[in-house]
Order: sequence, then C-alpha cells, then structure tokens
Amino acid sequence: MHAALLDQAHRAIEKTLAERGNDFRPAYHLAPPAGWMNDPNGLVFFRGEYHVFYQHHPYSAQWGPMHWGHARSRDLVHWEHLPIALAPGDAYDRDGCFSGSAVVADDRLYLIYTGHVWLGAPGDDQNIRQVQCLASSSDGVSFHKHGVVIETAPEPGIMHFRDPKVWRRGGQWWMALGARRGDDPQLLLYQSDDLQHWEYLSCALQGQRQPDGYMWECPDLFELDGSDVFLYSPQGLKPSGHDNWNKFQNSYRIGLLDDRGFFSECGKVRELDHGHDFYAAQTLLAPDGRRLLWAWMDMWDSPMPSQAHHWCGALSLPRELSRDGERLRMRPARELTGLRQSLRSLSIGAVESADCLLDERGTLLEFELTLDLAGSTAERFGLALRCSEDRQERTLVYFDAMARRLVLDRQHSGAGVSGVRSVPIAAGQTRIALRIFLDRSSIEVFVDDGAYCLSSRIYPRPDSQAITAFAINGCGAFGEVSLWRLADLGL
Ligand code: FRU
Repeated sequence: MHAALLDQAHRAIEKTLAERGNDFRPAYHLAPPAGWMNDPNGLVFFRGEYHVFYQHHPYSAQWGPMHWGHARSRDLVHWEHLPIALAPGDAYDRDGCFSGSAVVADDRLYLIYTGHVWLGAPGDDQNIRQVQCLASSSDGVSFHKHGVVIETAPEPGIMHFRDPKVWRRGGQWWMALGARRGDDPQLLLYQSDDLQHWEYLSCALQGQRQPDGYMWECPDLFELDGSDVFLYSPQGLKPSGHDNWNKFQNSYRIGLLDDRGFFSECGKVRELDHGHDFYAAQTLLAPDGRRLLWAWMDMWDSPMPSQAHHWCGALSLPRELSRDGERLRMRPARELTGLRQSLRSLSIGAVESADCLLDERGTLLEFELTLDLAGSTAERFGLALRCSEDRQERTLVYFDAMARRLVLDRQHSGAGVSGVRSVPIAAGQTRIALRIFLDRSSIEVFVDDGAYCLSSRIYPRPDSQAITAFAINGCGAFGEVSLWRLADLGL
C-alpha cells in the first residue's frame, strides 16, 4: 500500500510541475518541486552524501496530510530531488507522517517520525493521537515502514507528543520528544539499544506556560564546544521588547545533559534567528565534526504568495553552528562559496544624506560589507535591495543609530509580506560586518560573523533588481563591498 500511495503522490507532483509558476522559485535554496513544504526532517549523512527530508504535502500548496519529501547532496550546494520517502496511510500514521529525525545503523538509514491521527474532525488539535514510528532503507532512497515503536506518552492525558530526535550517546540510542502536559511544555527523553524498543528515561526539562509557552516542537539536543544545547521551537510565547514577534519562535538553551537524562540550564533562553521566517531548525553532525543546521524559512500563518504558483516553503541555507559563551553563532556553511560566480568590488565610501544608485543589480547575490559606525553621523544608513525602478519596492538593511540596532525592513518587499525585525548593536562597537544572501524570494543577513542572523521571505517582482546605498540625515560610511553573482541551480 505504501508504494501505491507514493506513486499517487509522485503523479500529483508531475501534474503540478506543468502549472508551477517560477517567479519566486529559489535558485539555490531547497524548496519542494511542487506542493507544500514545512520543517526539515531527518538530516543525516549517509554513504558520502547529505540527506535532507522535509514535511511535504504533494497534493496542494497548503499544509495537509504530511509526507516526507527527500533530497540529497554531496557538497551542500547541489541538490538532487529524490522520490518521496514516506506517505501517510497506515492506521498509526493515517493523517500524517509528522516531523522526526534520521540515523544510520549498520549501514542502514533509519527514519524515526511521529504518526499523527485526527480522532475528531481534521484540524481539531484537542482530539488527536500521536505515536512514534520507525522506517528504514538499505539504499537511502526507498523506505520500508516498521510501524509504531512508542505507543503512548509516559503520562495519560498527554496528546501532543511528537518530533523525535534520535542520536547516539554512551553506547545507546537516545530520543528527545516535545510534549504538552496541560498547558505546559516538556522535553521528554527515551533510550533504546536497537531503535525498536524504547524505555522512557526522564522529563529532561519541564517548562511552564509562563514564560516558556505551551509546547516545544521539534526539539534537538546536542553537544557543542563542551556544552549541551537544547534547540526547540516554542509555541505560545508573547512578544517582549524586540523579541518573539513571530507567531512561533526558534529558541535555544545552553546547559548540561547528565546521564540520568536531566538537563540543567545555564544562562538565558535565546532566539536563534531574528528574521520573520525561521522555524523548526534541526541539526546534523557532519563527518568532519561540524554541527550543521537547517530551518524552515517560513512561519505558520504568514502570507505565502507562492501558493498561487502551486508550491510553497523553502529551507534556510545550511549553517555551521558554534558556541560563543552563552550564545550560538551561525555562519553560512563554508561550502556555499561554491555558489559564487563572479566577484565585483564596489567602493561606496561616504554617502551624505542621499540615496545612491549602485551600478550593479540582481536577484541572486551575496554581499560582504562593513558599515563604519565610527565614521558615520547619519541617523540611519545601509542598503536598499531588490528595488523597483520607481523604488516603491525595496528591502532595507540598515543601522539605526538612535536605536543602535541593525534593521531588516520588509515593509515594501513585494507581495503579501511586511514588518520590521532588528538585532542590537553593542555600545562602543565601531563597525558592523554584514554578509547577505539574496535569492528570488528570501534574504538572509549574517551580522558580525554570525553573531546574529535575520532570515526573512520577500516577494518582489522579478524586475525589482536595483540596489542603493542610503544615509538619512548625515553621513553613512561604507567599507569596501564585495558582491558576488550566485549560481541559479533551479532547486
Ligand atoms: C512544526 C510542526 C511539528 C509537526 C509538523 C507537522 O512546524 O508543527 O511539530 O511534527 O510541524 O507538519
């Protein structure tokens, strides 16, 4: 039956491909060939290749019964779409193969995921059953389902119980799950010798509705530079100051996980990325020891104009994680320099209360530049990207001297989207180093070598390609700008 369901899903994708609109299609970010994508799942390195699976609805560009889409790459730059790996349809995953992870054991690739069933009306999430399931593959392409491996939550009454992340520690398999107990979130841990039989170990961390939200989706737990990191996607946080303005967040806590399965935190809860569109981040350990991370570069309930073009959703660029005291740093994976086609160096110099058109334009671009704060007097200065000829469309990245923040403004970034996000710039900091990636419908800004990131979707018209450097009320001093055209890989 699984094979027949997969065939049916592939036929739906084939049919939709002919109708797909490509104006917003990413050139070098992973997106579904057609239909809907959300969370990255099952990030894993298997027989010399990176595999990325993702939550996928092949029958429309809306969320629906979740399948696992699949792509693989040797170099993190070029990706090959593979057949859909999992389709829902068995009694235990009838309404969705929800998020999960992948591991390699004895040269076999295993997927561990949540089987989802609506017990009442579809969409009534107070009446659901969630179980943890296993599937495996000998070739990394076609998967055989093994059924349920964890049938019930450790306490009766826990219905939201999902997104297994499995990893190896101390000669055993460990699994982290996100759960909701009443209105409070939990991080639950299980252990296994064989991936089939799981024992409940602990509630590694118990949160409280205030201030932790009501559910921690997509947990990940890993060692990084001598500490343990709990990375998760909390639901139900309220905006506070400049933080938590998205519908849901992507947060992390640094601490230590002991052998009995208890996580003790040190430091604050922090947001991982400060853009509008970043959720459900997951990591893998690369063979060279790097911790690589991808997120869904969208947000629940936000405008998604590409749905009208029969596809929706993209993943962030892969990022290398490192720890800097109590904070995580995210840098673009070093392999991404492989996207660079041609380099232009631009000397903008000082811009005095003006808006200067650069003699470069484009949609697929990478920038490296510095903003020289010490040499500037402007209230605001920075770049306007993806500008239309009449400048009605524009996406701004600038330093706000009064607020001392680096701002990403997509108030005029094209179809559907709006809003402003920003990150703090320390008092006394004299320059800001920026690395910016533009694709047809996204912008990722890496601030000060990945100390902060802002990732957002934008939907300008294809011909909105101009770039300006601007300064408001005073002088804005720009360091040398390196600008690369990036490859169109048609992902
Ligand atoms: C996170 C999430 C997961 C769930 C999946 C369903 O975005 O809600 O908790 O497994 O998406 O698609």
